[in-house]
Amino acid sequence: MSKTVNVAIFGATGAVGVEMLKVLEERKFSMDKPRLLASRGGRTMKWRGEDVPVDAIAPTSFEGIDIALFAVEGDISREWAPVAVKSGAVVIDNSSAFRMEPDVPLVVPEINSSDIATHKGIIANPNCSTIIALIALAPIHRAATIKRLVASTYQAVSGAGKAGLDELEQQTREYAEGKPLSVSAFQYQIAFNLIPHIDSFGEDDYTKEELKMRNESRKILHAPELRVSCTCVRVPVMRSHSESLTIETERAISPEEAREILKKAPGVKVVDAPSDKKYPMPLDTSDQDLIYVGRIRPDQSLEDGKHGLVLWVSGDQIRKGASTNAVQIAEIVSQKL
Ligand SMILES: NC(=O)c1ccc[n+]([C@@H]2O[C@H](COP(=O)([O-])OP(=O)(O)OC[C@H]3O[C@@H](n4cnc5c(N)ncnc54)[C@H](OP(=O)(O)O)[C@@H]3O)[C@@H](O)[C@H]2O)c1
Repeated sequence: MSKTVNVAIFGATGAVGVEMLKVLEERKFSMDKPRLLASRGGRTMKWRGEDVPVDAIAPTSFEGIDIALFAVEGDISREWAPVAVKSGAVVIDNSSAFRMEPDVPLVVPEINSSDIATHKGIIANPNCSTIIALIALAPIHRAATIKRLVASTYQAVSGAGKAGLDELEQQTREYAEGKPLSVSAFQYQIAFNLIPHIDSFGEDDYTKEELKMRNESRKILHAPELRVSCTCVRVPVMRSHSESLTIETERAISPEEAREILKKAPGVKVVDAPSDKKYPMPLDTSDQDLIYVGRIRPDQSLEDGKHGLVLWVSGDQIRKGASTNAVQIAEIVSQKL
């Protein structure tokens, strides 16, 4: 890293913001004390053992800032990212607000870090389920060209932020106490349930979350022809999204070859020993950055059974699916400052 940079975290008090602070500290990012921003001040957060104040967002918030890590909802990003860019900061945004804009790079550093160079002030962090899927799929795509992907996601409640986490905890407590369950963060009760509805419904009755998997995968892999169908499901898991991924490839690929490719792939841990009951599960993949891949097997629905695979992945969507990916981008940006 070439110089000590000034970093702001906007949305510092939320699920992603809290983790960003932790990841910056863990990775020893070369920076001064961060500027922490949220909807209101009057709070402090710990940075290297010191109390740092949280400030209410204001038009002057980004003055003197080199890199602004945004961890707020899309409409708030849309309002404040231009303010930060005008102040001279590079914005790394976690929301979906800018991801599909042609002049905004959408980056997973292990896959397309060279796209960062094209930025004009804003760099987008992809959707969490898309990052988790592509960390496993990009190395296979490079080896055998994926033509088609069918994905089903099992998304943790923390994907809906702090409110989602609090709701599963509260409903579990209320259930145990025999009380009526309060519902506010999700459409229905999430404790002891599944909800096949994340974000709003759109094209062909797919949800926007499902369409992100298609659109963002195409952009990150530079594969505009990739065919994708995705079903996104909220599950009563605290942390770490899991996904079933079925792929069809141009070249034949065996599970053994895929396993060998993935063992060497950055950011991946292969856990695939079904006879020993070893496979990725969210309780094992949380609070870390590796994406776990297992249950790798041929797709028996294919005619020859050779041009496709089925995989199961699980990874911490607040870490690699959001905060760590953003900090990795910030590390690359900071080398150019
Ligand atoms: N959670 C995940 O797993 C995940 C993964 C990938 C991407 N993302 C994306 O990351 C972003 C943040 O998600 P999150 O899960 O961290 O959400 P969250 O836990 O709800 O946190 C939201 C943050 O935004 C701040 N905020 C809310 N309203 C505001 C306003 N009107 N003005 C200024 N600040 C405001 C909150 O500050 P206060 O404390 O002041 O309310 C808080 O710091 C979202 O775009 C989300 O889609 C989340």
